[in-house]
Amino acid sequence: MKEKILIRLKQCGGYVSGQELCETFGVSRTAVWKHIKALKEEGYVIDSVSNKGYKLVKSPDILLAEDIKSSLSTSWLGKTVKVMKTVDSTNLEARRLAEAGASHGTLVTAEEQTSGKGRRGRSWVSVPGQGVWMSFVLRPDVELENSSMLTLVAALAVEKGIKDAAGIDGKIKWPNDVLINGKKVCGILTELSAQMDELNYIVVGIGINANIEQFPEEVRDKATSLLLETGKPADRIALLCRVLEYFEHDYEIFKKTQDFSMLMEEYNSFLAHRGQEIKVMRGNDEYMCKSGGINRRGELIVEDSLGRTREIFSGEVSIRGIHGYSV
Ligand code: BTN
Repeated sequence: MKEKILIRLKQCGGYVSGQELCETFGVSRTAVWKHIKALKEEGYVIDSVSNKGYKLVKSPDILLAEDIKSSLSTSWLGKTVKVMKTVDSTNLEARRLAEAGASHGTLVTAEEQTSGKGRRGRSWVSVPGQGVWMSFVLRPDVELENSSMLTLVAALAVEKGIKDAAGIDGKIKWPNDVLINGKKVCGILTELSAQMDELNYIVVGIGINANIEQFPEEVRDKATSLLLETGKPADRIALLCRVLEYFEHDYEIFKKTQDFSMLMEEYNSFLAHRGQEIKVMRGNDEYMCKSGGINRRGELIVEDSLGRTREIFSGEVSIRGIHGYSV
């Protein structure tokens, strides 16, 4: 009931009379008043004026299932959503849900992760309330060997989602980091469960540094947030919704060919390091080369100092700019 009253106030934008709320939802005036009181306690600023009714003045900056549902225009992604205040990791929660039978497109978001996971066993710092920390379950109709490309689909979706929701251009550091002005604003961790050569499910985890005000000294030259880059707070709901909408759209394109033939041109147009010297790191081995774009398999085409080209697969290497992290 509380959610329904909230949605009505949001839809109206102005004053809604107590009488109308009572009649629409078939509850007493006292019940309406109690729900309004509960919403105020959650941080909503609601103006109440006798003879006029209630008006929503300000919503708290928290991710709510109703807000996501009312702003998201996807067909299947995020239609089932679990919104959490605190969780160890949204990837872990999505995996638990998937193991329990969660359907394709199930979404988990959290205000805070206490053990956020990064790639290569690293941890991911997830400042409470200042980011978009989310994971979704896919039960894709794609071959296991093609599934690693979904992480590139996610990077593409984040780049476009950031542009739409925050109005700033990002660049993709292959395969799946999104950078602004050379610093990382988003990380993506894709994990899969498979048996023999059959894919069971995939969890795509996306962390976007939306409104982080300050980073620890040791990562300040590598990490940034949308707030720091644009000077204004990002609307986390809009950001989350636009990313999911782009992902669903591009996923359907990817699925047709199970490769990047129809997406690579766009992906390459966002590459941070195309045509630049990069350092490729494989274990302790490092070499310099010139970066091209990706091919239809999502591999990065590079050229060594002798002009020989080779394709590198994301699972085996990581890349750096010649002067350090940024490319
Ligand atoms: C990276 O190392 O760049 C990947 C970081 C991925 C972080 C996101 S935040 C939401 C989801 N839950 C996690 O525990 N990790 C991913």
